[in-house]
Amino acid sequence: MADRKGSKGAAVLFVAVAALAAGCASGAAPEPGPAPMADAAPAAPTPELIAEGQQIFGGAGRCSVCHGSGAVGGRFGPDLTDAEWAWIDPASPSAMADLANLIRTGVTEPRISDTGMPPMGGGNLTDAQLNALAAYILSL
Ligand code: HEC
Repeated sequence: MADRKGSKGAAVLFVAVAALAAGCASGAAPEPGPAPMADAAPAAPTPELIAEGQQIFGGAGRCSVCHGSGAVGGRFGPDLTDAEWAWIDPASPSAMADLANLIRTGVTEPRISDTGMPPMGGGNLTDAQLNALAAYILSL
């Protein structure tokens, strides 16, 4: 019995705090929270984002199948750690977006390899994952 009463009290407190927070937010902006845009907005290449990209490269993205683990190049994909780029100008202000776009669309007419690259390496990645991959590759 004592437990039930305690949790009910906590619930009431939570509602009160949530109402308070909503009250504060509504003063500043009619729409609470920027959550729906989180996927689309390109994030800055923080160390966290680079680490996330590294994980995806060898994990969900399966990029290392062709580009080798550590992106040093493999049988089916070029080295992404060297200074030679076929498609990207890493000094360009749009390098992050360019990289994300290239990974999204893949390469149908290869410039340096015998074969092309399937869109997203043949997988299905979110904008946030593409952005993380771009941050990782730019950091190499
Ligand atoms: C089936 C093999 C394959 C997979 C899987 C693959 N790639 Fe590629 N990728 C290639 C090939 C081949 C090229 C070079 C195309 C050319 O010669 O123009 C390339 C090119 C690139 C380039 C451009 C390099 C440059 O010099 O401009 C980037 C960046 C890249 N891949 C990133 C990725 C990422 C990130 C993934 C994982 C989502 C991935 N690739 C998965 C085969 C692959």
